[in-house]
Amino acid sequence: MGRRTLLKGTNPSAFDKIYIALKEAIEMDWGMENRLSRLIQPDGRCFFLPVDHGYFLGPTRQLEKPEETIKPLLPYADGLFVTRGVLRSCVDPQEDTPIILRVSGGTSIIGGDLAHEAITTSIDEIIRLNVAAVGVSVFIGSEYEHETIMNLANLVNACEPYGIPVMAVNAVGKEMEKRDARYLSLCARICAEMGAKVVKTYWCKDFEKVTGGCPVPVVIAGGPKVNSEKEVFEFVHDGIQRGAIGLNLGRNVWQHPHPVAMMKSLHAIIHANADVEEAVDIFKSSVD
Ligand code: 5RP
Repeated sequence: MGRRTLLKGTNPSAFDKIYIALKEAIEMDWGMENRLSRLIQPDGRCFFLPVDHGYFLGPTRQLEKPEETIKPLLPYADGLFVTRGVLRSCVDPQEDTPIILRVSGGTSIIGGDLAHEAITTSIDEIIRLNVAAVGVSVFIGSEYEHETIMNLANLVNACEPYGIPVMAVNAVGKEMEKRDARYLSLCARICAEMGAKVVKTYWCKDFEKVTGGCPVPVVIAGGPKVNSEKEVFEFVHDGIQRGAIGLNLGRNVWQHPHPVAMMKSLHAIIHANADVEEAVDIFKSSVD
C-alpha cells in the first residue's frame, strides 16, 4: 500500500477505499498482466509468428492453406498473429499458443490505398475468441494518418476495460523506403502515447533510436522476403542488441524453403542470445 498502509483487521475508511481503487486502477490489472506474460516469456523476450497477410494480400505464396503452414512452426512461436477468419477455420481451439488477433483491415493490395483501414472486429468477438492481444495497423504520414491513429486509440479504449493488450503495427503500405530511424521512432512513440502495450515496427539502421524513444516494448517486423537467411539473422540480431524485445516475422520464415530451420535459428537469437554465426550453424544443422 506504499505510504498509506492499512492496519490488518481494521475497516477501511472512505478515503482508504478510494485510495485502494485508484491504486488498483493505476497498477496493471491481473488479466492484462496475465495476457502479456503469456506472450512475453520470463526472459523478457518474444517471438511471434504472423500469418495475417491474407487480410489484404489474399492467398499469399506458402500461406494458401494456413493450417499446413502453421502446424510445424507453432512449437517455436510465443504467439500467433492471425485474423478471426483464419483462426476459426484453420487453428485448432485446443492449441495452446497465445493468439494475437488482427483486428484492422478493409483494404486490398489491388485497391486504392492500403492505409484506408478501419477496425474490423468488435470487442464482443475479441472477448469470445479468448485472445491474448489484438493488433492494429497505424499508417503515420499517410493520407489516413488521423483515421488509423484513432483506430488505435479507440481500440485501446475498447480493450483496456477487459485487460486486453493492444499491439500497434507501424505500417507503411507500399512505401517501403520510408523505413528510417527518424520516421520509425516518430511512429513508435506516437503508438505508445496512444496506449499500445507493444509496438511492432520495421528494423532500420540505428534501431536504438526507435527503441530508446518508445516507452513500451518494441518488436521487430519483417517485411518482404530478403535474399538469404544470414541477412535475416543479421537484422534480427542487431535489432535485439539495440533494444527490441522480440520479433514478429512472417514471409522470411514461411516463404523460406526451410521454415522450421528458420524458426529454430531465430528462436535461438531471441531466447538463447545466439549470435549470427551460431544462428547460421543451427540453421545448417537443422536442414542436414
Ligand atoms: C501484415 C503484418 C505482418 O504481421 C507483418 O508484416 C509481418 O509479416 P512479414 O514478416 O511477412 O512482413 O502486419 O500486415
